[in-house]
Amino acid sequence: MGMLVSLRDWVDARFPLTKMWEEHLSKYYAPKNFNFWYFFGSLALLVLVIQIVTGIFLTMNYKPDANEAFASVEYIMRDVEWGWLIRYMHSTGASAFFIVVYMHMFRGMLYGSYKGPRELIWLFGMMIYLALMAEAFFGYLLPWGQMSYWGAQVIVSLFGAIPGIGDSLSLWIRGDYVISDVTLNRFFALHVIAVPLVLVALVVMHILALHEVGSNNPDGVEIKKNKDENGIPRDGIPFHPYYTVKDIVGVVVFLMFFAFVIFFIPEGGGYFLEPPNFEPANALKTPEHIAPVWYFTPYYAMLRAITFDIGPLSSKFLGVIVMGAAVVILFFLPWLDRSPVKSIRYRGPIFKTMLALFVISFFVLGWLGTQAPTDVKTLMAQVGTAVYFAFFLLMPFYTKLDPTKPVPERVTMGSH
Ligand code: HEM
Repeated sequence: MGMLVSLRDWVDARFPLTKMWEEHLSKYYAPKNFNFWYFFGSLALLVLVIQIVTGIFLTMNYKPDANEAFASVEYIMRDVEWGWLIRYMHSTGASAFFIVVYMHMFRGMLYGSYKGPRELIWLFGMMIYLALMAEAFFGYLLPWGQMSYWGAQVIVSLFGAIPGIGDSLSLWIRGDYVISDVTLNRFFALHVIAVPLVLVALVVMHILALHEVGSNNPDGVEIKKNKDENGIPRDGIPFHPYYTVKDIVGVVVFLMFFAFVIFFIPEGGGYFLEPPNFEPANALKTPEHIAPVWYFTPYYAMLRAITFDIGPLSSKFLGVIVMGAAVVILFFLPWLDRSPVKSIRYRGPIFKTMLALFVISFFVLGWLGTQAPTDVKTLMAQVGTAVYFAFFLLMPFYTKLDPTKPVPERVTMGSH
């Protein structure tokens, strides 16, 4: 023990080890009223680590070569010791990542966590979300199955719809006239190193920004406004040991679900691994029905909802704009929301109704994105798109109009 203490002191004299431990864990005071929704930040960190570690092991046997990629994945699944587990953890992990991140983002919307002074936490979060989408897109090409190939073909060709530069832009992204070995090589480089580096850096900034201002909570009460004589927030508890232990509960429950899916339904009924991807990529055979993985389908439905040209602008280009805007508009949430309160607990009926409609539209669009279009489904996608955008564009107005309830001085601990 004495030796360990002197070792610690030796390190502390040269590196801020204890200082960082205290600043971010044992003396970081978090609101004492965190609930279910606060599990997902630490779970997102867990899934990030799972993806990186399993990804490193996959890379040891994967071959980023159009002639070998598909077979190398089959080799991992059949011949590499525990390869099937590593691969399923990674492929199911991608879907788990989006489930966790969507819950995490929704928590931010429930409790107005994006509002001042936490705008930068939200903006870093949105950049993480963009990086995550890029990461998933690049990764999906690597197994070089039919859906990998045709999915990438569809998405890259969307850039072709941009007037003027479109064709040269998609050529530049692919590095060839069609998705090819060149594309596979660069997507591999982006997936295994470039985007993960950005992602990790953004997560560090996300947490630094969070620890600068302190966490919001289900009441939206600023705990730093009420400190005791030692300068410690009266409604705060040290992150370690209280929330480290609480988060371990979340980790255990999450891993139970995760293991269940990996061991019993690793393909997620065709949603986590799509059936056409069990066939090698074939440039001469377009699958009957191309759909992205579920986490992209709400945006895909919005892309397809735009079926009409406006003046010189093609429906395809407008669809791309609408799809891009659907993501970009989320960045502006901190400035669109003009409510004087943060948490849904103290908001009025208009916000609650709009949020409910937004969630419904996101799910319906997500489902529509997996379906082949029909007239009725396209109409539904158009209505869904309108509702989705109304939630954001009308927000400055309805959040002002909405009656609010008085926010308490201190956080509340009862059930709601
Ligand atoms: C790899 C992905 C991500 C990781 C690892 C991550 C990690 C975390 C962690 C550990 C926390 C503190 C614990 C918690 O409040 O649950 C947090 C808080 C937060 N995150 Fe993330 N996050 C990620 C993505 C995102 C995204 C995509 C957004 C939104 C666009 C976002 C928005 C927020 C907000 C607003 C908070 C503060 C919440 C509050 O104090 O109520 N995060 N994040």
